[in-house]
Amino acid sequence: MATLLATPPETPHHEDGLADEDTPFIFDAWYVVCLSDEIEAGKPVARRLLGINVVLYRTASGAVVAMRDRCPHRSFPLSASAIEGDDIVCGYHGIRYGPDGACKAVPTQKHAPKVMRVQTYAVRETAPMVWIWLGDPGRAATTALPPCEWATRAHGWALSAGSMTLHSNYVFLHENLLDLSHLSFLHKKTFGTPDYAAAPFSTDIGEDRIVVRRTVAPTRLPPLYADPLDIHGDAARIVTSTYHSPGLSVSAVVLQNLELPEGERTDHHIRTAQLLTPIDRDHVLYHFVIARDFVKDDAQTSETIHAGIKAAFVEDCFALENIARNRREDEAPFVERSITSDKAGVMLRRRLRSEALAERG
Ligand code: FES
Ligand SMILES: [Fe+2]
Repeated sequence: MATLLATPPETPHHEDGLADEDTPFIFDAWYVVCLSDEIEAGKPVARRLLGINVVLYRTASGAVVAMRDRCPHRSFPLSASAIEGDDIVCGYHGIRYGPDGACKAVPTQKHAPKVMRVQTYAVRETAPMVWIWLGDPGRAATTALPPCEWATRAHGWALSAGSMTLHSNYVFLHENLLDLSHLSFLHKKTFGTPDYAAAPFSTDIGEDRIVVRRTVAPTRLPPLYADPLDIHGDAARIVTSTYHSPGLSVSAVVLQNLELPEGERTDHHIRTAQLLTPIDRDHVLYHFVIARDFVKDDAQTSETIHAGIKAAFVEDCFALENIARNRREDEAPFVERSITSDKAGVMLRRRLRSEALAERG
């Protein structure tokens, strides 16, 4: 006779060894904390990242300061406090802190205690992106930002940026970004085409990146690319998806007009910096910067492309939030199974898990 258990045994959602919502965060990495325009002079901004509440503000010179959003006195949020010059003055009892987190003045006493110090974090700004490092401070100085200089204003491509908060763990967004076979289905109403899923692709697993390349040719471009480029016949769409770090995945697209003779074809580039920042176990802050090198000076084209790509991201959001809901709510034993095209995503999830566990020692 079978033994009935009062509590069913814990069952994994997937094959062993893959990162999921129970995997610890990776702290030793650069993450985009907000967009440059979101931090205005004199106004502190609150963010929650990797389970930590952070406040950001600009000093008088415009430099960004990031510190714990919690006054060391009685935990009042510094994001609800006042910026005075380079300092932040707590809105509860008026204790003043400098941009290095040191206490500078306590209104009710002469002495500013040394122990009363707000934890600060390393920040770098490559507009329109503001990056933060929440891990080992010593490693921040020696770790370069993940590579996406083409997504900075200084590079000169046409840029647009946005952000969304997803009710999903960041691991699944990373996996989604490496798996573009879903374009033919989830994105069939936006920028997917029917030939996308079966197009040939290659996967390269490198030490510092995981790359999936997919060539869709000949194909027809979706209107958001076809119209500004005036490519309405046969075209090539070559997409490279690259995982660089827990905070950055890049989608790089090359578009070509195949109706032109080979020697006359131009490579048109459009790339998206997919900037992922875990908020907590069940939420991810998702910034994106879209950059292109064609029709660069036309604001209407920027708006149309931004709206088209964002509409696709909303479809991803729908998928990921409902996947997360299923994983949260459905309690009967269940194991996800992978297919051949999941190779890059599986490698990525193994890497995220092993990095997270290695950081914990
Ligand atoms: S809680 Fe900030 S000064 Fe008291
Ligand atoms: Fe997608």
